Amino acid sequence: MQVVGVEQFGGPEALAVHDVPEPHAGSGSVRIRVEAFAVNPTDTGVRAGQRDSSKASPPYVPGMDAAGVIDQVGSDVSGWAVGEEVMAMALPLSTHGGAYVQELVAPVGSFARVPRGLSAALASTVPMNGLTALQILSRAELEPGQTLAVTGAAGLLGNYVVQLARAAGITVIADAAPQDEALVRSLGPDHIVPRGDGFADAVRAIVPGGVDALADAAVQRDAVVDAVRDGGVFLDVRGWAGDGSRGIRFEQVMVFEEYRSFDKLEQLRHAVESGTLTPRVAEVLPAARAGEAHERLEAGGTRGRFVLVW
Ligand SMILES: NC(=O)c1ccc[n+]([C@@H]2O[C@H](COP(=O)([O-])OP(=O)(O)OC[C@H]3O[C@@H](n4cnc5c(N)ncnc54)[C@H](OP(=O)(O)O)[C@@H]3O)[C@@H](O)[C@H]2O)c1
Repeated sequence: MQVVGVEQFGGPEALAVHDVPEPHAGSGSVRIRVEAFAVNPTDTGVRAGQRDSSKASPPYVPGMDAAGVIDQVGSDVSGWAVGEEVMAMALPLSTHGGAYVQELVAPVGSFARVPRGLSAALASTVPMNGLTALQILSRAELEPGQTLAVTGAAGLLGNYVVQLARAAGITVIADAAPQDEALVRSLGPDHIVPRGDGFADAVRAIVPGGVDALADAAVQRDAVVDAVRDGGVFLDVRGWAGDGSRGIRFEQVMVFEEYRSFDKLEQLRHAVESGTLTPRVAEVLPAARAGEAHERLEAGGTRGRFVLVW
C-alpha cells in the first residue's frame, strides 16, 4: 500500500508517497480502506522529528484522523462488517501508526460510524479534535451556567470546544480577529472579544472576577492566564504545567489518552448528526500534495482542515 511519510525528518518537502507492505486486521481490530485523512498541527511535529519516534521506523507516517470503509475484520471482532463507513483516530509513531495511509489497522474502540450523510472528507476532521474538545470539557468540570473562555476559537479545536460547551449549557466567551468574527459568531458563543493583546482585560470586562475555566487553543499561556478567576481551571494543549499562580488548576490536555474512547466518538457522531458540531474542511487535496498542505497550515490563517484523499 501507499503511505505519505518521511524517510528523514524535515520540512514539508520531506513528505513523499512511499510503498510499504500491506497491513492486515489482527486480533481486536479492523482494517479501514482510508478515503480521506485530515492534516492537523501536530502532524507537522511528527514530520519535523519533534515527537518520540523510538518505537517506529522509516518512513515515519503522521496523521491522527481518518475516514473510510472497513475492508477487513479481525476474526475475533463482532459488531463490525466489511463495507461500513467509519471515522477513526490514529496514533502516529506507535503500533498501528499514523493516518496518512491507504489501509489503517484500527483497534475496536478507536473508530465509529461516520455521521449520517457526511462525506469522508468532513468526517475525517471530527475524531481527534472532537475527542480533544470533550477531554477539555471533562477536565474543566463546569456546571451549566459557569463560564469558559476560549482562545483560538476560529481554529478547528476552538470551533469544537465552543460548540460543545454551548451545547452543555456553559457560558462561552470566544476570541476572534475581525476577519473571523462571522465564523466565530456562527458557533454560538455568548460573547466575542478581540483576540491577542488585551484578551484577559476584555474577558474581565464581561466577568470581572475572571472566568471559571480557559481553554487555550491558541497557546498564549502567560498572556491570557489573567482571564481565569482565582481557583479556576487553565486547560493547556501543548504540555504547559502552568505557573502555579492564584490557586489555578493547570490541566495538560492529552488526546492520546482518548485512543479507544468509543463512547465519546459516538457522542461526537450524534453531535454532528444533530447539528451541534460543524465539521469544517478548508480544502481537499490529493495525498501527493501533503507537503503543500503542511506548508500552508504552518503559514497560519487556515480555517477548517486541509484534508488529503487517495
Ligand atoms: N494536547 C492535545 O492532545 C491536542 C489535541 C489537539 C490539538 N492540540 C493543539 O491545539 C492547538 C489548536 O489546534 P487547532 O487544530 O485548533 O489549530 P488551528 O486550527 O491552527 O487553530 C489555532 C488558532 O489559534 C490562532 N492563533 C494562533 N496564534 C495566536 C495568537 N498569538 N493569538 C490569538 N490567536 C492565535 C490561529 O490563528 P491564525 O491561523 O490566524 O494563526 C488559529 O485560529 C494546536 O497547538 C494543536 O497542536 C493539542
